[in-house]
Amino acid sequence: MHNGSRILVLDFGSQYTMLIARRIRELGVYCEIWPCTTAADRIAAFGANGVILSGGPASVYDTGAPQLPQVLDLGVPLLGICYGMQVMAHALGGRVAPGATREYGQAALTALDPSCRLLADVDDGAQVWMSHGDHVAELPTDFVPAARSRDGLLAAVQHASKPWYGLQFHPEVEHSPCGRAILQRFVFEICRCRADWSMEAFADTAIAAIRTQVGEGRVLCGLSGGVDSSVVAALLHRAIGPRLQCVMVDNGLLRHGEVEQVKMIFEEGLGLPLLVVDARAQFLSALAGVVDPEKKRKAIGRLFIEVFEQAIAQLGVQFDFLAQGTLYPDVIESVSFSGPSVTIKSHHNVGGLPERMRMALVEPLRELFKDEVRVLGRALGMPPSLVDRQPFPGPGLAVRILGDVTAERVALLQRADAIVRAEIDAWPGHVELWQYFAVLLPIQSVGVMGDQRTYEATCAVRAVTSVDGMTADWADLPKALLGRISSRIINEVRGINRVVYDISSKPPATIEWE
Ligand code: XMP
Repeated sequence: MHNGSRILVLDFGSQYTMLIARRIRELGVYCEIWPCTTAADRIAAFGANGVILSGGPASVYDTGAPQLPQVLDLGVPLLGICYGMQVMAHALGGRVAPGATREYGQAALTALDPSCRLLADVDDGAQVWMSHGDHVAELPTDFVPAARSRDGLLAAVQHASKPWYGLQFHPEVEHSPCGRAILQRFVFEICRCRADWSMEAFADTAIAAIRTQVGEGRVLCGLSGGVDSSVVAALLHRAIGPRLQCVMVDNGLLRHGEVEQVKMIFEEGLGLPLLVVDARAQFLSALAGVVDPEKKRKAIGRLFIEVFEQAIAQLGVQFDFLAQGTLYPDVIESVSFSGPSVTIKSHHNVGGLPERMRMALVEPLRELFKDEVRVLGRALGMPPSLVDRQPFPGPGLAVRILGDVTAERVALLQRADAIVRAEIDAWPGHVELWQYFAVLLPIQSVGVMGDQRTYEATCAVRAVTSVDGMTADWADLPKALLGRISSRIINEVRGINRVVYDISSKPPATIEWE
């Protein structure tokens, strides 16, 4: 783990918790998110320069509502945000009251206390984003107001002598334009952190950690063609050289030309030998008749493990570790306070290995967000052709083929997808996009080609902008570009007679269709 300055975010289940951590890291300060139920000794051992208590959906008076963790004795600055402020006020003897209505949306700050160090860069009237039902109605002893909202409610509070602060609004969201300055004040002025979190520093620490973990052992690394697994491979290669073996499973669900491309980049570009296992037939037969998205993901995840076992047997070498591109959002989602109760999608790179494999996991990206992985790739000197690749889901095209996954439908999607990517790649604006691809729908519709009636499949085009894949907006592609994509697909891909453009944002939609 990073051994410089650090902030700990204790999570009470807010949808914005991850955003807090991202904002802190953007400031160059290392930050982790732990559940608000974390034991006191673990919190103390983390050695945070400051602690942030996140928001959350509960009310302090709910039965079983999360309590204030033991942070008051740490002797470090505290910042409670929304529920985090309420739980702190409640624990210290203040009174939290339910609002007549839920306050949700923009609010303006007023009655700012000019002596408040946290709000020193904020002007009277500054816009902030509120999203709460309860509010602090009476302050605990020794606390004073630092700002109010226009309706007189406490928007910011501070302890009279200790560096303890509370904000009723969310400084971490874009809709609080002064939020960055507030977090900056908290992190640098109040917690006295140094901006010492950089990808160069991370790479050195990660390489040293891999060497310690792996010792003289051998590591198997599965490559999916995406950025994460490629960066994992590059990092391991630096750390342990030839004791790394990369394997790419050709599950028949990859993009057109992908296997050849990845093999070339790895072997010729990075000097890393790559074993490609042809498991196309196995995957297609495991997916036969499976239409439920979760069942598809699970079936593919299981088979990956089996194929890996076959690959190891084929290599005839004992491997002690399996490298995986697990990212921080995956880690938090599976341990967060709000918990893994709602599974939106089972990402198949998270989770354990069967006992019988007797391989430990090496997950050097567990502390990183997706966009940090790209920065790391660049810091490692990886070529743009690898680092700037679009994210690609582990279950591949299977989750972009709605309904039955058959060899014919995979081929149809690969051809349409190649056109979408080629056309958008040729448009200079593509550098602003996070992902762009085609999706095959289980819908046939009537068309007319020449004088003939057609009754063929529909293809959706998906193009989104995003910073980290957690939220996304549909991309406003030029009409002429959409027109070219559509006419090329309909003219060149026999079996598709209709193209639609997906104009849904995430949330409430997701980027992938399954
Ligand atoms: P969703 O569809 O959940 O996707 O909005 C968010 C981002 O994650 C990618 N994705 C995956 N990546 N394994 C991965 O490594 C998976 O199983 C998986 N499913 C989705 C998706 O392409 C998008 O960038």
